[in-house]
Amino acid sequence: MKHWTEKFFVRQAKLWLHFLDRGWRRNKITVAAIVKILRKHGIKKGRLLDIACGNGRICIPLARKGFSVTGIDVGSAYIDDAKKRAARSRVSAEFVCGDMRRLDVLVRGKFDVVLSVWTSIGYYDKKTDERLFKTIARRMKKGALFFVVNTMSQEYLLQHFCTNLFDETDKYVILHPCNTFDHSQSINKVKWVFYEKKGKDLAYIDEFNMKLRIYSLSEIVEMGEKAGLKFVEAYDSMATLDAVKPDSRLNVVFQKG
Ligand SMILES: C[S@@+](CC[C@H](N)C(=O)[O-])C[C@H]1O[C@@H](n2cnc3c(N)ncnc32)[C@H](O)[C@@H]1O
Repeated sequence: MKHWTEKFFVRQAKLWLHFLDRGWRRNKITVAAIVKILRKHGIKKGRLLDIACGNGRICIPLARKGFSVTGIDVGSAYIDDAKKRAARSRVSAEFVCGDMRRLDVLVRGKFDVVLSVWTSIGYYDKKTDERLFKTIARRMKKGALFFVVNTMSQEYLLQHFCTNLFDETDKYVILHPCNTFDHSQSINKVKWVFYEKKGKDLAYIDEFNMKLRIYSLSEIVEMGEKAGLKFVEAYDSMATLDAVKPDSRLNVVFQKG
């Protein structure tokens, strides 16, 4: 059976593209925070790699600020959209369609900045993420920064856990029935059942069974350090850059020494 990411992000790309498009409305806060942190570390330009970049929500604005951007994502629909958006913004950005588990063969050279934004890790298992972190570390220049931000944490999930949830946009209603969390493996299983709004009715579209490895802050820090990176700082949110709280999501910065 295909992995859930294949069905959700690739075969039914139109659904997630709707969410990525909506995400552009709130990208400014994250972009401004990344720029602020980079400036603090003396990084004003250079090569930036956005892993699982979606349709370029974060890296295209950073290309506009002068970074030489490479974005990779497994969804060709998102990559095509990112290329169109970059062309419209007249920025130099390279977008590659591929699996982050093959990062080493997808990109060339070393980077000044690497990004993983909006829960773009934990799709496989811990070993896979450990390998990914090691590959990322090899691809970073000395002094480069690696951001894992706007990412679900074990601390947040457990303090705000709901068994049944729903979400709504102008186009869709999404039900999340029977969420579970396996403490022993830190695995969150969550179903997404999509309905399209048709006037006052809802038309069923499809459903997806997602399985995510949710990391605690200490696990992420350990994974970065095991990859040879130095933990720099963790924040409560990218909006405030306040110090981390007991139920913060993951907003973590590493540096290559
Ligand atoms: C939650 S979205 C985040 C997108 C983007 N980082 C943002 O902040 O807008 C997760 C992204 O991961 C991508 N993705 C999932 N599995 C992947 C893989 N194995 N390799 C590369 N990208 C992947 C999806 O296609 C999707 O665009």
